[in-house]
Amino acid sequence: MRGKVLLLGDTGKVGTAVKAALGPRTTVVGCSTRNLDAADLGAVERMIDETRPDAVVNAIAYMGVDNCEKAPDMAFRMNVMMPKLLAQKSEQLGYQLIHFSSESVFSGAKRDFHGESDTPDPINIYGLTKYMADLVVQKGCERHFVLRIPVQFGDSTKGGQLLERMIERARSGEALRVADDVITSPTYSDDVATIVRAALEGDITYGLYHVTNTGSASLHEFVSAAIEVLGLRANVERASYKDFPMVAKLHLVTPLRQEKLPAMRHWRDALATYCARMQLHHAA
Ligand SMILES: NC(=O)c1ccc[n+]([C@@H]2O[C@H](COP(=O)([O-])OP(=O)(O)OC[C@H]3O[C@@H](n4cnc5c(N)ncnc54)[C@H](OP(=O)(O)O)[C@@H]3O)[C@@H](O)[C@H]2O)c1
Repeated sequence: MRGKVLLLGDTGKVGTAVKAALGPRTTVVGCSTRNLDAADLGAVERMIDETRPDAVVNAIAYMGVDNCEKAPDMAFRMNVMMPKLLAQKSEQLGYQLIHFSSESVFSGAKRDFHGESDTPDPINIYGLTKYMADLVVQKGCERHFVLRIPVQFGDSTKGGQLLERMIERARSGEALRVADDVITSPTYSDDVATIVRAALEGDITYGLYHVTNTGSASLHEFVSAAIEVLGLRANVERASYKDFPMVAKLHLVTPLRQEKLPAMRHWRDALATYCARMQLHHAA
């Protein structure tokens, strides 16, 4: 894409992949906590006014189901009011807005895949704020893409998300315990980023989309698959989400399905690509 993209959250899991996917013709202005406090809406507005972007990609959120339950005001400000402002500014200045939503907008009561036509029914503050943002972005501006994504794997400058934590533990010889009753559709952030690029290049019409690799897995199945592909010797014990007490009610069976975009590759194929890249980095 030719032009300037304001990439909010350029150091995160999704932001890192988006940054890598944007071609050399794109000028990327990146933001993270190093140069922006996204909870300060005045600061966000100033950043937009100074940057004058052709597109804004919002990969900042107040993350963590329990964090949101414990700090609902902050969750509401970052996950709803901030995207609402981005949508208002999009109407005013005319930029395209790409905003990321989450599988957490669903409760999991359906116990099956969720497509775009399923009605969200969030059961925790994180999911509720993500759903409210889906609505305010869709209502607030015409030139929007709301991309709902499930549990991500892929490069990040931050580390510390589920798969990376488990691989680190496996490499240091620790036994792993992973819930086998939390079901998602694990998705490679690089594959999500290809959809972001297509959207910015005008290959997709505005709207809300589920963006997911094909297939579903329990977290146990997903982590076990990565450990196997990486050839690590680690015992991955089955656990339940109940073994990791939380304040929030957890959405348990929320794999996504694409009803609008052409199917992406299976998560196992995407995981094989990611693991091969990790092995190259590890060996270097
Ligand atoms: N990861 C997943 O499995 C997943 C699943 C479903 C949906 N999503 C959605 O995808 C989007 C991106 O998630 P992610 O996994 O990429 O998140 P992440 O890895 O935690 O990265 C968050 C990014 O936001 C920045 N950030 C956080 N708080 C900030 C603040 N107050 N001011 C400025 N920058 C701030 C972080 O900067 P620093 O590096 O400086 O902290 C980082 O760049 C979110 O909307 C999330 O809800 C993610």
